Amino acid sequence: MVMRPAEDRARSTSHEDRSSGHRHGRAGLAGRLDELGHEVAVGTRDVAGTMARTAPDGMGNPPYPAWAGAHTRVRLATFADAAARAELLVNATSGGVSMAALAAAGTKNLAGKVLIDIANPLDFSLGFPPSLFVKDTDSLGEQIQAAYPELKVVKALNTLTAALMVNPAQLAGGQHSVFVSGNDPDAKKTVIGLLTRSGTPTSSTSATSAPPAAPRC
Ligand SMILES: NC(=O)c1ccc[n+]([C@@H]2O[C@H](COP(=O)([O-])OP(=O)(O)OC[C@H]3O[C@@H](n4cnc5c(N)ncnc54)[C@H](OP(=O)(O)O)[C@@H]3O)[C@@H](O)[C@H]2O)c1
Repeated sequence: MVMRPAEDRARSTSHEDRSSGHRHGRAGLAGRLDELGHEVAVGTRDVAGTMARTAPDGMGNPPYPAWAGAHTRVRLATFADAAARAELLVNATSGGVSMAALAAAGTKNLAGKVLIDIANPLDFSLGFPPSLFVKDTDSLGEQIQAAYPELKVVKALNTLTAALMVNPAQLAGGQHSVFVSGNDPDAKKTVIGLLTRSGTPTSSTSATSAPPAAPRC
C-alpha cells in the first residue's frame, strides 16, 4: 500500500472504517489514511484478478471489490505502479510474502522512500496459533532493510490489531504507545508525525530492531 501524504487536506476525522468491517491491516489502514486526506493506492499482483474476486477471503472479509466500492478514492495498482508514484510506502503484506511483494514493487521504485513495515513474520506451518519464522536474533524489518539499503524501513503498528490501528482511542482512551523502530531518524520523524496526526501515540527506538522487551518482527 502506498500513498502521497495529505497536506492539510483531511477529509474526515472519523476513526472507523465503517463501511467494510474489514479486519485486515491493509484495508483498514488504507481506509484510515484515505479518510485523513492522503492519496492512497493499494498494491496487488494482478489488478484485474483482484477486481474480479467475489469470494470472502480466508479471514471472512468481503472480497476486495466490495471494500473498493466503499472507498472510491483509493486506487488499486500493481505493486510497481503504486510504488513508483508513492512518496511513502506501507508494507501491509503477510510476512511470508513481503519479500516477493517488495521485489515486484521494484528496487528503483523503493529507493530513497520511507517504508512503514506493519508486517509480521507469522509461521502457520505448525497450525494455529502461529509462531514467527524470524525472531530473537533477526527480524523481517531488518531483512527488508538489508535487502534494500536505500529504503528507509520503519517498523511500526505491527503490534496492534487492525481495529486498534485505525482507532487507537479504543484502548485506554488512546493512552498507550506503539514502537517506531528504524535506522533513519528523519524517516522515523515522518512516521511519528503521520501516526500522531492519526491519533496513535508513539515511542521511538533507535534501530530497526525492537527494544529487548518487545519481540523482533
Ligand atoms: N490484521 C491485523 O489485525 C494485523 C495487525 C497488525 C499487523 N498485521 C500484519 O499486516 C500484514 C497485512 O495483513 P493483512 O491481513 O492485510 O494481510 P493479507 O491480506 O494476507 O495481505 C494481502 C497482501 O499480500 C499480497 N500477497 C499475497 N500473496 C502474495 C504473494 N505470493 N506474493 C506477493 N504478494 C502477495 C496481496 O497481494 P494480492 O492483492 O495480489 O493478493 C496483498 O497485497 C500482515 O503481515 C499482518 O501480520 C495485521
